Amino acid sequence: MSLFGNKKIKAFGLDISDSSIKVAELSLHKNHLTSAVFADVPLLDKTITNHMIVSEQRLAGNIMKALTTAKNIKSKFVVCSIPEAKSFVRVIHLPKIPLAEIEAAIPYELEQDIPIPIDQVYMDWFILRELPEKIELLVTASSKDYIDSLIATLKSIKLRPVALEIGSQATARALIGPEEATKSVLIVDIGAQQTSFIIVDKGLPLYTSSIPIAGNSFTESIARNMGIPKGEAEKLKSSHGLTSQTEGEELVRSAVLPILDNIIDEIKNVIRFFEDHSETKNVIDTIICCGGSAQVPGLIDYISTRINLGSGKTNLRVGQGNPWSKMISAQNHHLPLAPEKALGYTTVIGLALRGNDYETE
Ligand SMILES: Nc1ncnc2c1ncn2[C@@H]1O[C@H](COP(=O)(O)OP(=O)(O)OP(=O)(O)O)[C@@H](O)[C@H]1O
Ligand SMILES: [Mg+2]
Repeated sequence: MSLFGNKKIKAFGLDISDSSIKVAELSLHKNHLTSAVFADVPLLDKTITNHMIVSEQRLAGNIMKALTTAKNIKSKFVVCSIPEAKSFVRVIHLPKIPLAEIEAAIPYELEQDIPIPIDQVYMDWFILRELPEKIELLVTASSKDYIDSLIATLKSIKLRPVALEIGSQATARALIGPEEATKSVLIVDIGAQQTSFIIVDKGLPLYTSSIPIAGNSFTESIARNMGIPKGEAEKLKSSHGLTSQTEGEELVRSAVLPILDNIIDEIKNVIRFFEDHSETKNVIDTIICCGGSAQVPGLIDYISTRINLGSGKTNLRVGQGNPWSKMISAQNHHLPLAPEKALGYTTVIGLALRGNDYETE
């Protein structure tokens, strides 16, 4: 707590991926959205490759470009995403020890659980539950290299990061409304290069993972199989997707399906892993899809059919996410983007939600 009390500031959301930069600033009065500004800049030059910042200068230039496009964002304060692939979210258990000793005990426990050396990550944690004989913690660890380079980039253009968070945590904030907050839900974020899987157990994002297969793989497969340029393949993907009435459309469908089947196999693995390992013994009954590629026509229905087929579960509900779920009283016609069109902005909406009325310490 500062001498003059906590100060409320407005921070905008900044979602950086290998393929794009998205910015958003939201203003809410209670749960009503009173204003929203968005912009999306594709990263065409080699700025970020395999989640590594290749050029801080180019990244800074592209962030400035996004802010210039979103003319109304004037704030210097920013809530920024960290890529899934540069972070680890783990549930760990410690014996009952005094609160002051937890910080020092975490590295020993976490070390066995993450694939990079412990001195190369920054950690953040909070207590999930106190059980009779142990303490359950949610720990996030993020690569120091990436974070240091990101902060240097933001500072070089006079932006002040007030919070950095793993993209999946922001995605969950945007999608988990009051109804989903009581369930165990799997969010599947199908982007351009990356599909992320986020298990949200009673409102808490507990497990996250990702695979490098997503919408761009659909486009490449269509282009390859049909011998057409990627631009044309992209159009066919958006207009027809998995719906097929003609022979040409059937070619699009058969190019996309093997890739989507890989994503579905991973959905099954993630669900199995959670249900076998979770201490709570909760069962996933809802899958929420988001990311730009969740708009591929027929994709949700196909996932629903495949996932329920022979799963032994009677009714795993698969649906499209609503990134405006927190804005419960906002009527759809007052939203700046229809829920379907907002799917690609889910993460940045979650970051901007944290930045709206951000309270400094
Ligand atoms: N209407 C649409 N129909 C089908 N696919 C679409 C549509 N609009 C966008 N996409 C696809 O969504 C993808 C971009 O999604 P998104 O904006 O969520 O990705 P990203 O967050 O920038 O990247 P990533 O999460 O992979 O790092 C692209 O592959 C694009 O082709
Ligand atoms: Mg994304």
